[in-house]
Amino acid sequence: MRDSDDQKRLSHESRFTHHASSLFMATVEQAIEKHIIPLEPYYLPVGKEVGLFEAAYRGKLPVMLKGPTGCGKTRFIEYMAWRLNRPLVTVACHEDLSATDLVGRFLLEGDETVWHDGPLTIAVKHGAICYLDEVVEARKDTIVLIHPLTDDRRILPVEKRGTILQAPDEFMLVVSYNPGYQSVLKDLKQSTRQRFIGLEFDYPPAPLEADILMHEGKIDEQTARDLVLIGEKVRNLKGHGLEEGVSTRLLVYAAQLVSSGIHPHLACEVAISSPITDDSELQRSIREIVTTVI
Ligand SMILES: Nc1ncnc2c1ncn2[C@@H]1O[C@H](COP(=O)(O)OP(=O)(O)O)[C@@H](O)[C@H]1O
Ligand SMILES: [Mg+2]
Repeated sequence: MRDSDDQKRLSHESRFTHHASSLFMATVEQAIEKHIIPLEPYYLPVGKEVGLFEAAYRGKLPVMLKGPTGCGKTRFIEYMAWRLNRPLVTVACHEDLSATDLVGRFLLEGDETVWHDGPLTIAVKHGAICYLDEVVEARKDTIVLIHPLTDDRRILPVEKRGTILQAPDEFMLVVSYNPGYQSVLKDLKQSTRQRFIGLEFDYPPAPLEADILMHEGKIDEQTARDLVLIGEKVRNLKGHGLEEGVSTRLLVYAAQLVSSGIHPHLACEVAISSPITDDSELQRSIREIVTTVI
């Protein structure tokens, strides 16, 4: 029994060593598998974004999601990837992100150099949705790399291997961008911006945001409405010393704390006033808002 098991295992192994390409395919399959979204993510549509995104997908148009942090951009793209039945490859952009990080590199493994696809290459090969989160953070040379993928050529030059990949129809490039952080140094060039259609996101309207808090935070309707009202009032402080209003994400955190038994005042302290500002004066104003509402 053991012997035959061992034999099976051996023959299985040798099949793979002798057919390096099937092993390679297995690794590629594995690499994409983790990007598949199996269950429908909870997403409450706010406007026409779902239909617009589907039209962009059909028309092979790159999409830019614009809006403040924590207002639902990531959740939306997860939902759309699930809805369109595409894998989702997300890359958090930062200033050290190089073209090589996106496309791939040769790595030394033992005494062999083995090519490893980067996330963008994986996405192109599999007709996935590639989501470049906070694209302004990426280096200029990295941003330029996506240009040939965004026009009608739809190609990805893989310079290190001397090859060019043609993106399949299903491939889609999506970037996110927070206009609030705009500065002279960190802004997208027109030559980049004008390659995308822009979908504008903002905090959901009050009744929808309350529904989201009830769903995500497992709280009752009254508490949800109170938190939303606090959110609205805190958002009005924007410009009065506050750089950005409180995100839906933070309101969800507050809701989750309340539902696990934390007093609402303390929940708002740690989930709202503390994260959004270091200014004790502003924190006091937020505390006042909280105690008048709850
Ligand atoms: N329209 C929405 N439908 C469902 N959940 C939402 C929606 N908008 C915001 N959320 C909630 O807010 C949280 C933060 O949103 P996220 O998509 O991560 O923000 P962003 O990517 O814009 O920074 C999500 O995890 C989700 O709980
Ligand atoms: Mg996000």
